[in-house]
Amino acid sequence: MSQGLLIGQKCLVTGGSRGIGFVIAHKLAQLGASCLISSRSLPTAQAAAALLPVPMSFQSQCHAGVELDVSQPWPRSLNSSSSSTMTDVSVLVNCAGQAHSRLLVSMAEEDMQDLVGVNLLGVMYGCKAISRLMLRRKVNAGTTTTPSSSSVNIDRGVIVNVSSVLAAQAGQGAAVYAACKAGVEGLTRALACELGPRGIRVNAVRPGLVRTSMTDKHVSDDRQSLVRTRIPLGRLGTADDVADAVVFLITNRYVNGQVLTVDGGFTAA
Ligand SMILES: NC(=O)c1ccc[n+]([C@@H]2O[C@H](COP(=O)([O-])OP(=O)(O)OC[C@H]3O[C@@H](n4cnc5c(N)ncnc54)[C@H](OP(=O)(O)O)[C@@H]3O)[C@@H](O)[C@H]2O)c1
Repeated sequence: MSQGLLIGQKCLVTGGSRGIGFVIAHKLAQLGASCLISSRSLPTAQAAAALLPVPMSFQSQCHAGVELDVSQPWPRSLNSSSSSTMTDVSVLVNCAGQAHSRLLVSMAEEDMQDLVGVNLLGVMYGCKAISRLMLRRKVNAGTTTTPSSSSVNIDRGVIVNVSSVLAAQAGQGAAVYAACKAGVEGLTRALACELGPRGIRVNAVRPGLVRTSMTDKHVSDDRQSLVRTRIPLGRLGTADDVADAVVFLITNRYVNGQVLTVDGGFTAA
């Protein structure tokens, strides 16, 4: 993939402080983008942003950490580690998420609200706040000016939401999480229709099981081994597999309103 593909793009990655989100931000930075990484903790966001590679086209640090609890309506300006703002964000990756493995009948209402707040409302708030800013971005008669001949044309903007295979194939203990992720996919399709005519594409990526702090906390080793036996490619996914799919959804100019499954064939089997 071309190193300079995302030169000139500013990407906000929620949940970029660790796990899949961090690897996505890292890949976008490798391709030349400047990244805003969000976390509920500013020092955590700053520490993650400092680990991103600085593209050759920048003389100095071009990434920043921002403090953001996605489950609350997004403020107009964010507490940031630099003067960097959200106003010129051209790519939004909604990756922040939480899991909570429990049967619905025994789940506390508070936990339900937390899960819906982060995994569904958080994505809605993000799409709303950032698409409003993207709509103000200047585009030249049909096409945006691209900063270099090798970089991609993103029009007004691109949004990629992170779903989960549980949206399509949920097991016991995942009712609320699965409902949120199914909601994210519905939101993605509806927004693609609302924003497509205005130059913003909206897609989702649907990962299978990927080993992160989330899965280590909520999926036992036995369960992970069992899932592995059901994956035609014979291995769990990696955050890198997901990040590659996100780059495809960002850069392909005719894919809109789609959910791209990245699960080694798990849901096909
Ligand atoms: N791992 C998997 O197998 C898998 C499979 C399918 C889909 N997914 C999805 O992929 C995404 C990333 O998962 P992961 O496995 O990488 O999880 P992870 O390692 O636990 O990371 C979760 C990220 O979400 C952020 N976050 C959580 N609650 C937040 C809130 N209220 N406001 C802002 N940020 C918040 C965390 O940031 P701070 O703690 O720093 O605030 C962290 O950066 C999630 O949407 C998840 O549902 C994961």
